[in-house]
Amino acid sequence: MHQQHSVLDDNAVIIWNKHIQSQYYSMGIRSNPLYLNAQPGQFLSVKDMNRDKPFLRRPFSIHQVIENTNAEVITEILYRVVGTCTENMSHMQAGQSLSVMGPLGNGFQVSSDMKQSCMVAGGVGIAPLVFLASWLIQNHRQLASGNIFIGGRSHTDVLCVTELKELGYSVVLTTEDGSMGIQGRITSPFELFLEQHTPDMIFACGPIPMLKAVAMIAIKKNIPCQVSLETVMACGLGACLGCAVSYQPENQTYLHVCREGAVFNAFELNWDTL
Ligand SMILES: Cc1cc2nc3c(=O)[nH]c(=O)nc-3n(C[C@H](O)[C@H](O)[C@H](O)COP(=O)(O)OP(=O)(O)OC[C@H]3O[C@@H](n4cnc5c(N)ncnc54)[C@H](O)[C@@H]3O)c2cc1C
Ligand code: FES
Repeated sequence: MHQQHSVLDDNAVIIWNKHIQSQYYSMGIRSNPLYLNAQPGQFLSVKDMNRDKPFLRRPFSIHQVIENTNAEVITEILYRVVGTCTENMSHMQAGQSLSVMGPLGNGFQVSSDMKQSCMVAGGVGIAPLVFLASWLIQNHRQLASGNIFIGGRSHTDVLCVTELKELGYSVVLTTEDGSMGIQGRITSPFELFLEQHTPDMIFACGPIPMLKAVAMIAIKKNIPCQVSLETVMACGLGACLGCAVSYQPENQTYLHVCREGAVFNAFELNWDTL
């Protein structure tokens, strides 16, 4: 997949802003038709121009792009309230607007010679993977209906399960408190699965410790793996080095999550520095 052009819309109208559960919300934002070409794993960045804080834009993965009956393109994001920007967003109403820039970054790489893939998500890390799951059905049918492993701290951190099952995927769930699915971390059933199956590609998104554990399993089993990193960002444009990660440490390379990511080959990242 190649980098797409992105657009800045200082007046992107909110079409819906729905509370899903606990700290999680879904927001639909009217978007430029360019978003219809967005790749799973790409993201957008938002800023409320009516507020001084936070000063910097905040990145969110593209969760879905839909075209409604009025031929309006709507991009959906799934967000968790963790701080100033997301708290403010949770109080916004349909009809209000945000400044939105996107689609940004590079998405997951998928090739037609892949026969079987699987996905691993932690918490709100499911957001880009649902987009990938539905995109695979349209574009790489042979990879659809695979296995998706979803982990959360509690049942309130587990999202999109019904949606993924309806798309034909097999979902395995774990929660650390045992309130839904198998008790424990998602890496346990995932590792067991890999004893019986050898997918051509693992796609993962979630908190860094989970991604690191998934990457170590993939490296041990020598199964290609791509991870979408949700690191803290500043400018979101490749200009400030705020999101630099060490990549191919033997070459002392640093890449920007906002520009060269957020999706990376898990085998090339320097996990000791993350
Ligand atoms: C490429 C990318 C895609 C993302 N996609 C999503 C998404 O789809 N849904 C979603 O809910 N979030 C996503 N995030 C994370 C999201 O950008 C942050 O949660 C958001 O910027 C927090 O802004 P805030 O002002 O509400 O919180 P702040 O006030 O900035 O921070 C509140 C607290 O959260 C911590 N924090 C902030 N950002 C992160 C982070 N990225 N990782 C870990 N801790 C953090 C801060 O250190 C602080 O303790 C993504 C991040 C990246 C880089
Ligand atoms: S956030 Fe500034 S370079 Fe990536």
